[in-house]
Amino acid sequence: MLGLGTWENDDPEQCADSVRTALEMGYRHVDTAQAYGNEHAVGDGIAAADVDREDVFLATKVWIDSLADDDVLATTEESLERLGVEYVDLLYVHWPARTYDPADTLGAFDELAEDGTIEHVGVSNFEPEHVAEAEELLNVDVFANQVECHPFLQQEALREACDEHDVEVVAYSPLSRGSVFDEPVLSEIAGKHDVSEAQVSLAWLREQGITAIPKATGHAHIEDNWLSLGLDLDDEDLERIGRLDRGEREVDPGFAPW
Ligand SMILES: NC(=O)c1ccc[n+]([C@@H]2O[C@H](COP(=O)([O-])OP(=O)(O)OC[C@H]3O[C@@H](n4cnc5c(N)ncnc54)[C@H](OP(=O)(O)O)[C@@H]3O)[C@@H](O)[C@H]2O)c1
Repeated sequence: MLGLGTWENDDPEQCADSVRTALEMGYRHVDTAQAYGNEHAVGDGIAAADVDREDVFLATKVWIDSLADDDVLATTEESLERLGVEYVDLLYVHWPARTYDPADTLGAFDELAEDGTIEHVGVSNFEPEHVAEAEELLNVDVFANQVECHPFLQQEALREACDEHDVEVVAYSPLSRGSVFDEPVLSEIAGKHDVSEAQVSLAWLREQGITAIPKATGHAHIEDNWLSLGLDLDDEDLERIGRLDRGEREVDPGFAPW
């Protein structure tokens, strides 16, 4: 339920060290993407950690320029080489954009799932109609939809649609890229439990049944986020956080489907 995000962790040595630190602390889910330019470093971190590859849930994503079927197959092979692994646990369509062609793209994802190159098919930044379409086209199930989600963007309609299709929701930017530290309500709740605002946001997501993948670079942030697993919010906290939704996105590129 708690993974390590790696976007912009692009100094290779630092990135490998973040991944190794997280895995040795107990994290078992690591999130990267072809577009992050750090798959090699993520692979180095996994190899350096005192943890078996089979115990790590490794996710990467195919970028929007490479979603034609042949490109999905070729670039996934390249991802595996950079990561130094024989399979990934989860491969996402990064965005339903540019070269995304539902039948063509997802046909290639099916092929990768069937030959064991990937354990699960994921989608990212998919709206309810895209999730429904993917479910219909794929031979295998959609395992997860990775979307931005935090107290200021609670995504209720999308979460309901994912629930209906039995698709896990994975929250990116779960700390709202740092905005959680500027919200007085979160600071009050953090003060009450003697924890950080980051932990409050991550515990709130966990209470919603959502997996979060905060990006953290150094030991202190990686550990602070890990400790959120021990934080139990009470009903009053949950209710106050529930009222913070303001539909506020951190990630909103021109090719977004909304
Ligand atoms: N699918 C997509 O389209 C998509 C889009 C965006 C992100 N993602 C994924 O989601 C991951 C997380 O999202 P994000 O990187 O956008 O934002 P985020 O996780 O909400 O925030 C990351 C920022 O918070 C800081 N931070 C982390 N833990 C902290 C703590 N305990 N105390 C204080 N500061 C802390 C990090 O600093 P340090 O680095 O210095 O620790 C970094 O500046 C990404 O890394 C990526 O893997 C996916």
